[in-house]
Amino acid sequence: MRAVTIASQAGRGKLALSHLNPPEPGTGEVLIEVAASGVNRADLLQRAGKYPPPPGAPEWPGLEVSGTIVSAGGGVSPRRVGEKVVALLDGGGHAELAVARAAQTLPVPPGVDLVDAGALPEAVCTAWTNLVDTARVQPGEWVLVQGGSGGVGTVAVQLARALGARVIATAGGPERVAQVRELGADVVVDHRREDFVAAVRAATAGHGADVVLDVLGGRALPDNVRALAHGGRLVVIGLQQGRRGDLDLNALMTKRATVTGTMLRSRTPAEKAAVVAAVHEHVWPMVADGRVRPVVHARLPLGEAEAALAMLEHGEAFGKVLLVP
Ligand SMILES: NC(=O)c1ccc[n+]([C@@H]2O[C@H](COP(=O)([O-])OP(=O)(O)OC[C@H]3O[C@@H](n4cnc5c(N)ncnc54)[C@H](OP(=O)(O)O)[C@@H]3O)[C@@H](O)[C@H]2O)c1
Repeated sequence: MRAVTIASQAGRGKLALSHLNPPEPGTGEVLIEVAASGVNRADLLQRAGKYPPPPGAPEWPGLEVSGTIVSAGGGVSPRRVGEKVVALLDGGGHAELAVARAAQTLPVPPGVDLVDAGALPEAVCTAWTNLVDTARVQPGEWVLVQGGSGGVGTVAVQLARALGARVIATAGGPERVAQVRELGADVVVDHRREDFVAAVRAATAGHGADVVLDVLGGRALPDNVRALAHGGRLVVIGLQQGRRGDLDLNALMTKRATVTGTMLRSRTPAEKAAVVAAVHEHVWPMVADGRVRPVVHARLPLGEAEAALAMLEHGEAFGKVLLVP
């Protein structure tokens, strides 16, 4: 099978299209003929040698796929062969075939194109577990989604709204601001021109954001804390602005606020399966009725993986970029 592999060149990883032996599903696993595989910032880190796959995972990148089950490993019903699914993977998605734990697969939601469905697993699982399991968003609360134009953010905006929250999102530039507004955000802040803390205060009549879902990290930490309401919860899921930041503990105490961070990839299979099951129960109906839809910026062939990653690296993508074998 063809797969996107990483060859090290002068200290910088370079992507190559390689011919590899097809993987075989083990106990509790299925083999998927990949229709699409979602590109993630984790792929950029893995290419740079900074994000090795967890033990036992394939060496080649790709954290999520859509496709058709073509064989089932031990303990998995052979009747699942032929099912159209999406899957959350530990790696190895950028390929013609990928192995997934059966418990980390979901049926393709009704009405969603098989290829577009590849945009869903990582973004939906990330948005769900952080907004609901971690931040415990309540209807009527104000949620600030940092990076509402991104792969995760485009889903988080729609999901927060579907959960009954009032949504403020950030995006870069007027075109992306308009696109995020179309996704249902109540207020969209152009982070290139506006101060998001002031915008949050104005939008919420001084209340602040009850929840901030943050993809920036380090340098954004002081302003994210400033934007929080009393009892607010800041959940950091990305470090685009560094891993260290200045935390005003007095502000945290005064507001009785919480700062936390989570990562999906490092969770145990049982923890991932629990997130996938909750997404199936709670988010899949929202996808089926159109409240949450995949946002696909581009579909590129496997051989153009470098171009696909460049779209994320250069901030061009609105929503997800997919590799289509
Ligand atoms: N912890 C986890 O489990 C987990 C899971 C999935 C992803 N992530 C991480 O979450 C982050 C986002 O992932 P993604 O797939 O959505 O990436 P993406 O599609 O590349 O989106 C990046 C987002 O960051 C925004 N952004 C960049 N600079 C900004 C700024 N100064 N202020 C506000 N927003 C800014 C971009 O907005 P504009 O382009 O409009 O400026 C864009 O919306 C990544 O760091 C990724 O590694 C974490």
